[in-house]
Amino acid sequence: MYSVVQIKIKRVIMDKFVINGGKPLEGEIEISGAKNEALPLTVASILTDDVSIISNISDLADLRSMISLLEVLGVKSEIKGNVLRIDPSGCDGYEAPYDLVRKMRASVYVLGALLGRLGRAKVSFPGGCVIGTRPIDLHLMGLEKLGARIKIEHGYIIADADKLVGTEIFLSGIHGPSVGATVNVMLAAVKAEGVTVIKEASCEPQITELADFLNSMGAKIEGAGTPVLIIHGVKELHGAKHEVIPDRIEAATYMIAGVITRGNLLIKNCIVKHLEAVIEKLREIGAEITYEDDGVRVKAKDPLKPVNIRTAPFPGFPTDVQPQIMSLLATVPGISVITEGVYPDRFIHVSELNRMGADIKVDNAVAVVKGVEKLSGAPVMASELRGGAGLVLAGLSAINQTVVSRVYHIDRGYESMEKKLANVGADIKRVSE
Ligand code: EPU
Repeated sequence: MYSVVQIKIKRVIMDKFVINGGKPLEGEIEISGAKNEALPLTVASILTDDVSIISNISDLADLRSMISLLEVLGVKSEIKGNVLRIDPSGCDGYEAPYDLVRKMRASVYVLGALLGRLGRAKVSFPGGCVIGTRPIDLHLMGLEKLGARIKIEHGYIIADADKLVGTEIFLSGIHGPSVGATVNVMLAAVKAEGVTVIKEASCEPQITELADFLNSMGAKIEGAGTPVLIIHGVKELHGAKHEVIPDRIEAATYMIAGVITRGNLLIKNCIVKHLEAVIEKLREIGAEITYEDDGVRVKAKDPLKPVNIRTAPFPGFPTDVQPQIMSLLATVPGISVITEGVYPDRFIHVSELNRMGADIKVDNAVAVVKGVEKLSGAPVMASELRGGAGLVLAGLSAINQTVVSRVYHIDRGYESMEKKLANVGADIKRVSE
């Protein structure tokens, strides 16, 4: 016997995309607000008691999970269209439970924000996931350097601080700077006493946007977008308004959709300087990419050329676009080599692509892709967000029908993917069982 809520969740979990591939996509796709920016901004809003307004948010499962988590802490939120209004005045809870944190690793951002707001936090340890072990040692090291006492008990991180004090922190791990650790330390440091200098900070666009948002709340952060962030602690922050920038990973995904179907797409509302590494590789593959007043046009026809790619932190080629470009390279005759420089184990999609006729072999963090003439449709399963997007792209180019199950992974980070693709000529339907 299921309750109404359980039935709803079960439905979403059982949703599939049924794709009849082989149709070149033509038309325009409008890009939505960036998931990985909206998440830290939403958490940053709890650093004051005032209301903040975040516009251009996308309707995404991850953002809904974050809002539910903040609700548990006493934060009131309201979404009207694509505008999120956050009222954190009642935020006095300090415990982020396992059931909410396990859904989404970005939940760990509440650790830094709660330390900044209440001086204490108890947050479920997020654990690993299908893209890798995903440790949070750098987050914890950074917060400890600011003066937090941290212990791990029964799967929870328990942190408290009488006061946080600015210091110098190196945030780079073996795979380069950490986006999440940079966010967490920024959130704790903005209200710390004195100056915090983060060296080897993440340079991803969402860090620059977070710094802009915090500065408009009254923080004093310099150097965002460079590896050295200087944060002058302030006593109080106030509410602010911010518009989320377009999602560069969504834009890259649809650019690749244009190339893999050998189509002609105008990707509207995207920021070219955030997409340079992807554009350069698509050009090397042989796609024609031109800039128009309202977007980037992507056209492709055979023959295309194989390439070698290494994923890296921004401004390098994004790991979040690795599965999608792998699907494309699987359809480009010749040998391409993809090295995963951020998550050495992010290859769970490979066996599914091989079920569609791809010829891909993985050794450690390196995938050797031997392109084939055509992929053939098959039932496949999404196991994570970007891997799932890669399978959809493969299905769009494949002969006959592909059924991608577990699309709830895709719904975490793509707003209405099937509608956007159907609007440009894809034969794709969401089917609920
Ligand atoms: N790392 C450590 N220690 C840490 C933190 C990270 O060793 O304390 C390692 C990671 O294991 C990884 C590397 O550092 O090898 C980079 O991880 P990072 O911390 O930068 O990743 P993240 O903050 O957990 C964000 C995005 C991911 C994206 C990565 C890399 C959000 C909410 N998530 O994760 O996005 O892949 O940066 O760009 O912003 C996605 O959107 O599908 C997604 C997974």
